[in-house]
Amino acid sequence: MKTLPLFFDLANKTVLIVGGGDVAHRKAMLMAKAGAKLVVIAKNFDDEFVKFLNNHQAIIHQKSYDATDLDTHQPSIVIAATDDHAVNVLVHGDCQARRIAINVVDTPALCDFIFPAIVDRDPVVIGVSSNGKAPVLARLIRAKIESVLPSGLGKLAAKAGEFRATVKEKLPTITERRYFWESVFGRAMVDQSVGELDTELSDFIENNDKQGEVYIVGAGAGDPDLLTFKALRLMQQADVVLYDALVSPKILDLCRRDSQKIFVGKKRQDHAKTQDEINALLVKYAKAGHRVLRLKGGDPFVFGRGGEEMFACRQAGVPYQVVSGITAALAASSSTGIPLTHRGVATSVRFLTGCYKTNEAFDGLKSAYQADETLVFYMGLHALPKIVENLSAQGLPSDLPVAIVSNASLPNQAVLTGTLANIVAKQEESGVSAPAIIIAGKVVDLYQG
Ligand SMILES: C[S@@+](CC[C@H](N)C(=O)[O-])C[C@H]1O[C@@H](n2cnc3c(N)ncnc32)[C@H](O)[C@@H]1O
Repeated sequence: MKTLPLFFDLANKTVLIVGGGDVAHRKAMLMAKAGAKLVVIAKNFDDEFVKFLNNHQAIIHQKSYDATDLDTHQPSIVIAATDDHAVNVLVHGDCQARRIAINVVDTPALCDFIFPAIVDRDPVVIGVSSNGKAPVLARLIRAKIESVLPSGLGKLAAKAGEFRATVKEKLPTITERRYFWESVFGRAMVDQSVGELDTELSDFIENNDKQGEVYIVGAGAGDPDLLTFKALRLMQQADVVLYDALVSPKILDLCRRDSQKIFVGKKRQDHAKTQDEINALLVKYAKAGHRVLRLKGGDPFVFGRGGEEMFACRQAGVPYQVVSGITAALAASSSTGIPLTHRGVATSVRFLTGCYKTNEAFDGLKSAYQADETLVFYMGLHALPKIVENLSAQGLPSDLPVAIVSNASLPNQAVLTGTLANIVAKQEESGVSAPAIIIAGKVVDLYQG
């Protein structure tokens, strides 16, 4: 380890900054955030920086730096942020002679300490450093950490600090207290519910935290980048994962490594588990105290049967959360550049199912088609001839543009365009495969291939 991460209490300590530009300004903002008293020396200052310094009661010296500045102000640390290397070297030498720790910005060889990439959820602070070797990587790691931390984390940590004594009084053993905090912080990491710690504590004492929870989560259309932060947090929290056929291996890999993963996938005519069996499993695992993730393709409430799972939880008295995902129609729209509504072309959009049980009449649109609307059919590829026949019978023009988007958002995405008159033949010829959605409407003309 080249540098030791330490957290420096700078409140009311003097930090001397040499430099009056942008970089010095940024460092000064950081120092002010930590409560430091600022002394800034520079021959020239940016106007915004001066405003900032005045607002923070900083001492400003508009002059050339010299070593007496260090003796006069006796700073705890020094930051040299000028664009004049010779000045930076001079400040560094003076600090070394006086054993004052210095950071010369962007010059690792002249730094006694370095600034990490910071995640600030005060009082929780996380610093990431690559010791100057790969600052961009450090920033990406910080972004990754940011993405998994709930926004209310700092508030919760502060409240937890205030609440520690109460917890100690009500829960006499260390183990109980540990379980309680694990449960509180675990929940907070998932649903961002900060506050009400006294309710959490009485619930914990009452239930001894035996009840689990079900997370009904949309995993989006396939590209892992389309997951929401909340989905990802729950995926990394769950003990048991019940996942669908449409959930890609890459997405499944993002679930907690040691979680139990159960495939309950449903493909057309091939159901690993019936819906009733899935509902029963959700309830069973939650009642056994597990955090159960029901991970579904797209959005759970768009042709996803998430509603039935929610009702099963409700009926069984199992707590649940529903997290939306990017539904296939939206993913297909953005990844192909076919807007589903477009000024002057389409003012509404209808999501329809093309999935009908054998022998069931395909009754298509339940209300009349408007020329300025877009129709999106899910689960319709196998029934394409039936859908086209039905739409034609309802008077939709034979030249109505139609697109089939298969594997939307995934590397093997394929798009086929045609009209109501020729899309069936084109599809048979091309062999575009499921999962696919069918978009019908004038917006398809906006597709540029
Ligand atoms: C049972 S539905 C689930 C829909 C899902 N809940 C959603 O919101 O996207 C399955 C259908 O969604 C569509 N679908 C799902 N993922 C898709 C993708 N990546 N590309 C195209 N269509 C997709 C297909 O029409 C597929 O037959």
